[in-house]
Amino acid sequence: MHASGVLTRRFEELFGKSPRIYQAPGRVNLIGEHTDYNDGFVMPAAIGLYCNVAIAKRSDRVLLLHSSNMAQSTSINLDDPGLARRGQWTDYVVGTALALEKIGCRVSGADILIEGEVPFGSGLSSSAAIEVAAGYALLDLAGLPIDLLQLALACQRAENEFVGARCGIMDQYISAHGQADHALMLDCRSLQSTPLPLPEDVSLVVCNTGVKHSIAGGEYNQRRAQCEDGVKRLASVLPEVRALRDVTPAQLDEYKKSLPETIYQRCRHVVTENERVQQAAEALEAGDLARFGELMAASHRSLRDDYEVSCAELDIMVELASRQSGVFGARMTGGGFGGCTVNLVRSDSSQQFRQSMTRQYESRTGIHPEIYVLSAANGVHRAAS
Ligand code: GLA
Repeated sequence: MHASGVLTRRFEELFGKSPRIYQAPGRVNLIGEHTDYNDGFVMPAAIGLYCNVAIAKRSDRVLLLHSSNMAQSTSINLDDPGLARRGQWTDYVVGTALALEKIGCRVSGADILIEGEVPFGSGLSSSAAIEVAAGYALLDLAGLPIDLLQLALACQRAENEFVGARCGIMDQYISAHGQADHALMLDCRSLQSTPLPLPEDVSLVVCNTGVKHSIAGGEYNQRRAQCEDGVKRLASVLPEVRALRDVTPAQLDEYKKSLPETIYQRCRHVVTENERVQQAAEALEAGDLARFGELMAASHRSLRDDYEVSCAELDIMVELASRQSGVFGARMTGGGFGGCTVNLVRSDSSQQFRQSMTRQYESRTGIHPEIYVLSAANGVHRAAS
């Protein structure tokens, strides 16, 4: 049976009524890491791993939430004035419902069954997929018009204000706007994106190190604060600077002395990464995958050495990948401190890549890695039920 058929049946068993089904994808980021919250450039693609939401209206203001992954039900009244973060997956749904209401979209109570295919804590944006799927479903159920950008911004607000992670816009944006067979070049200042076709004979291979990461953890918010610190210091000598997006590598070098060493390194990552994303877009458009791969490698080194968000397992995964045949490029993807690498691999080499990476990573680390051969997928949508 089709996956949404199975979900429909489960929903009917649980709630005794028929649902509508919605899906929002996770993502990989090809290049442009930790640039989104610096008004910079990113190049993510949505992937064919989804958060599936089955939903039906209730006549009250209760969200009755059930997760297949967690085998857990939670009831939340949207009118409860004391609604606060609980530190569990339901926060993503409740935070999104509240953020939508803050922009004037009144949603109704609903019975909701969630089934996530995006592995949790793996850097593939399982949380954005939940937010975007649930937000889209709640809007559609309420018969409200859906503006994908407003939806993505509301979901980011849910993370920032309700969940407590100061993430940028990349994950929610791509989960909403993803396009099959394309990456998006997104300018995180103007919030305009350009679809970039991915070559047909290349697969996106995602290798999960098996090391969990959490962006709600202090390190992510600390990096963000360090960037803000850098901007404040640089703006005192370069008044036109509002974000690290506005700083060129030459300016950063010129004013190196006005920054403490760690802040300088963090800024150098962001400033050089922004350049790399733009060069990578040119390389992709020119069909120059070798160049694209070099930029991925440089991005990884910068994240490892300057931004210090990699870890031993990610470094091993990238090092092993760069020795396989048919690989154009490899780097960590997402927030870091564990999670996944993204690899651009010639499609006819991808199964071989998968097998040897599994064997070699396991023998180096003792961890069995999940490896997914993926292609770029569409963003959030209502699925046929
Ligand atoms: C996480 C955040 C994104 C982005 C990346 C790093 O995925 O949710 O907004 O900052 O980390 O590029």
